[in-house]
Amino acid sequence: MLRSLFIGLSRNVALRRWAEQSRIGRRLASRFVAGLTVGDAVSVCRRVNAEGIAVSLDSLGESVTTEAEARAESEVYHRVLDEISAGRLNANVSLKLTQMGVDIRPDLAEQIVAGIVERAAVSKLFVRIDMEGSNYTETTIAMTERLHARFPGVVGTVLQAYLYRTAQDTERLLRQGIRIRLCKGAYQEPAGLAFPHKSDVDANYVSLMKRVVASGVFCGIATHDEVIVHEMLGFVREKGIPSDAFEFQMLYGVRRDLQRRLAKSGFRVRVYVPFGNAWYPYFMRRLAERPANLTFLMKNMLRS
Ligand code: FDA
Repeated sequence: MLRSLFIGLSRNVALRRWAEQSRIGRRLASRFVAGLTVGDAVSVCRRVNAEGIAVSLDSLGESVTTEAEARAESEVYHRVLDEISAGRLNANVSLKLTQMGVDIRPDLAEQIVAGIVERAAVSKLFVRIDMEGSNYTETTIAMTERLHARFPGVVGTVLQAYLYRTAQDTERLLRQGIRIRLCKGAYQEPAGLAFPHKSDVDANYVSLMKRVVASGVFCGIATHDEVIVHEMLGFVREKGIPSDAFEFQMLYGVRRDLQRRLAKSGFRVRVYVPFGNAWYPYFMRRLAERPANLTFLMKNMLRS
């Protein structure tokens, strides 16, 4: 119930405007968001890299309504890619199609994302297209397939274990050698499309995780669920799957202890580092995943 409340609030325009402009809002968000500028993101990236952990930089933004906004968003990604290659950072980028104008015109978004992927290819970097709500699943997968055909290995996407269709989508992407980040899914979806019970989502996650990690296509296991992480470690040990066949992926500010422990044990770990002014919907989805975060953040703020 609290999950639905926070996801509902993540779409509230007035609250978003207030939060993004308020100092309190920005202080609360700083636990999960690296800062407002590319420079802030680069500093966090260096700090995380120094711990032997890779990064995926995400310039926060979604649901733009004009072509000019979409192009401005893509400019930020070009700058981020320049910074990654000039600074030899251990990083790639993650972006969202609604941020690149897919709601205005899908061909506009494809043209803009192709420009970013082409720029990444020049420096041997990688672009991950995040997965949004189920209205965008097919569009995102199909666009990733076309971009992968043009720039093989430079682009991948995300599949969500809560959707019934994901087992089929997994096979579809693996057949083409497209890199998958597997997550549980962060949006509110109807029972006709997604498992309503968390235990079913978790079980589906484990089964898909075993499929992707044994496929030979490099994959991202994106979860903070320690039980699943342990299941993964047992599975790769039992099957003799090398530790460079996959990476664990986690969010900035979430389970830092687990991130460090895995990296110290020799596993590849990548942290998703979001930055930018438009942090509100992202932040509200993090609260939806764990409403106790709000009390935790408020207590920390009162203490400091
Ligand atoms: P689960 O929600 O079961 O949590 C397991 C445990 O992890 C909790 O008990 C708690 O200890 C900890 N935890 C989880 N979330 C937390 C939080 N917000 N704060 C503090 N502790 C928390 N989703 C999507 O729909 N599209 C996408 O493109 C992506 N991309 C993405 C990238 C990366 C790198 C990650 C890690 C996640 C995503 N997600 C996503 C989000 C994902 O779908 C999911 O909502 C969250 O990862 C939470 O699910 P867990 O697998 O961590 O398990």
